[in-house]
Amino acid sequence: MVNFNYSPVTEKVLEDLALILGKQNISTDEEKIESYSRDEVAPHLWKEKHVAEVVCFPESVEQVSALMRYANEHRIPVTPRGAGTGLSGGAVPAFRGIELSFEKMNRILDVDLKNLTITVEPGVVTSEINRTAASFGLLYAGDPCSGDASFIGGNVAENAGGNKVIKYGPTGGSVLGMEVVLADGSVSWFGGKRRKDVTGYDFVHLMVGSEGTLGIITKIVLKLMPLPAYVVDLLVPFKDIPTAMEFVPRIMLEGKVTPSSIEFMDGAAIRLAERFLSTRLPCDDAEAHLIIQLEGVDRETLSDDLERIGDLCLAHGALEVFVADNRNTRDKLWKARKSVAEAVWAYAPIQVANEDIVVPTSEVPELMAELDRIAREKSILYVSYGHVGDGNMHVTLYLEGETPDWKEILEDGRLELYRVVRRLGGTLTGEHGVGLKRAEYIPMFLDEAQIDLIRRVKLAFDPNNILNPGKIVPWE
Ligand code: LAC
Ligand code: ZN
Repeated sequence: MVNFNYSPVTEKVLEDLALILGKQNISTDEEKIESYSRDEVAPHLWKEKHVAEVVCFPESVEQVSALMRYANEHRIPVTPRGAGTGLSGGAVPAFRGIELSFEKMNRILDVDLKNLTITVEPGVVTSEINRTAASFGLLYAGDPCSGDASFIGGNVAENAGGNKVIKYGPTGGSVLGMEVVLADGSVSWFGGKRRKDVTGYDFVHLMVGSEGTLGIITKIVLKLMPLPAYVVDLLVPFKDIPTAMEFVPRIMLEGKVTPSSIEFMDGAAIRLAERFLSTRLPCDDAEAHLIIQLEGVDRETLSDDLERIGDLCLAHGALEVFVADNRNTRDKLWKARKSVAEAVWAYAPIQVANEDIVVPTSEVPELMAELDRIAREKSILYVSYGHVGDGNMHVTLYLEGETPDWKEILEDGRLELYRVVRRLGGTLTGEHGVGLKRAEYIPMFLDEAQIDLIRRVKLAFDPNNILNPGKIVPWE
């Protein structure tokens, strides 16, 4: 039987935690606890209130190890937390206990120019890694939309995706190794500064995306690459969504180039972002927009690629091709793209979720046609955008005004959408994670044999079920 019988954080526990971490590294301040018990999912969407009993701020692996040993012995749940930019409730303490913040473990430990790696603590802000790498003429390819605020530890725990996955893979594609504190406080290294490793199981990539349910990551070795010298973004409007979707597979097949991004915003998404930022983008009146980013080692190759892709767009239904080739216009474009999720929240608050569905890229046109059908049949509105090159779409179903049954209406639309996703060979979440938000839908997508295996893996790593309980693993 799995354990859900936890001890409360008593005065005695607080005293012990103060001895382990130092008084200055624990907080029971109510406001602080409340704010550290959240992520970007609106708390009113949870079925009940989730608030930790104490927030801890370890400063070293030794402290994390001692804390885990103590929590394991005393059966106190531990929920690790990055910057709180998550979109699935991964950092929400479903069973109270200790909220473990990594904001004090925020050092870049090493940039290794021979092995092309960067070693960091989990509390480093993602964009600081991008900037540090760039200062050495190198690229760290992780680029989640929240990268200016998110912590790398959270990116690894959720296997964050973002805008460059089509060329460089998700966060996990850049992770070569990590130091991990296991549930009982023991410390191990999985992987390291090496590009190949089949000595034992691939625990590095089991940890990636495990949402803090298997161990606590305290150091991360990331892969670096040469920084592309030239980058250009194309903003390409299409008259409608089907035309844009049908075009996407041609970019690589006929354009003979792997763009670093192929992103999508529907008409509503681009206009909500403009309103949110009080800005205007060119060609914003179309119903579908692609952003295609190209990288090149020299100007000539890049401009050849640009011309070829531009012509291909125009030959297949693009209304025009806007080229963002200077820092200002590129920044403006990406700022808009990255603000869509926030803009949708601000202007379409009657919603239950920002979806993160994925289908094989060949099925995206049908997914979008089905989305439109569901919305029309059920009188639901929607905004869609996301990483179309990866088949990973963000969809928010919403209603214009609140009715007594708004939750049921949206939930009904959501389930219908999930059935379509499943039929098309897709899955529940591509980059935001299961967290608390999607745990109940896992059985729709994974068979019983796999769910059973997930349970056994969880218990092998965490026999007392103290590591972020309530996430990923569906217990009966
Ligand atoms: C995005 C976030 C929501 O792609 O994942 O904008
Ligand atoms: Zn996304």
